[in-house]
Amino acid sequence: MKIICSENYVELSQFASDEIVSAIIENPSLILCMASGHTPVLTCELLVKKLRERNVDYSSVYFLGLDEWVGLPPANEGSCHYFFRTKLFEPLQWNPSQYFLFDAMADDLQNECKKMDDLIAVKGGIDLMLVGIGINGHIGFNEPGTSFNSLSHVAILDSTTTSVGKKYFDDGRVPDKGISIGLGHLLNAKRVLLMANAEKKAGVIKKTVEGEMKESFPASIMQMHKNGFILIDKEAASLLNKTY
Ligand code: PGA
Repeated sequence: MKIICSENYVELSQFASDEIVSAIIENPSLILCMASGHTPVLTCELLVKKLRERNVDYSSVYFLGLDEWVGLPPANEGSCHYFFRTKLFEPLQWNPSQYFLFDAMADDLQNECKKMDDLIAVKGGIDLMLVGIGINGHIGFNEPGTSFNSLSHVAILDSTTTSVGKKYFDDGRVPDKGISIGLGHLLNAKRVLLMANAEKKAGVIKKTVEGEMKESFPASIMQMHKNGFILIDKEAASLLNKTY
């Protein structure tokens, strides 16, 4: 695990978007998995801008959505579908053959999990993952206590997740379940970037980097990843013992 500390959110997002652009240039058939949420908003915007400006061929990239709120229609502005459609798929004019997101409205959610697991296997694994971190240490909807070997699964959401999740929904109504790519897939991904900014993430970044590695704190799995990077700004790094 390597720590890369940027001055601020803009610099952090520049760095993350540059990493994705370089990965696509190096491997035009990149299997890219990303989280939605507030943290990667600017990364997505910069990614679109840079791919266009640098004339990068991204037509063979395959995209996987990390997670989704169960029961939420894709048109709901708080959904991960809505996030990726508006931030990436429409601006980059990707068609549905280039991406897969969980259908969290499906009657058979286990089948959605199987579809994702099978797809990851067929594609030969995830090349690059960009994830965030929740203030309970979750990654995607891998809530505290999730096995480090988990595949795609449906999770009952932690009370911290549902309480913090209100920020994504105008009516404040947060689903109580989520569907997520599991931590086993993260461990197998060729490269993982975990991104966090602002003082509110300083405590969880400290636990991720310096705390005990345990399933009750999912992000500590990053300590085990051979090609894992913690991308943070100065505020998120403020409680770390070492300066980066
Ligand atoms: P955020 O969410 O990017 O909106 O802070 C992170 C998360 O809960 O995984």
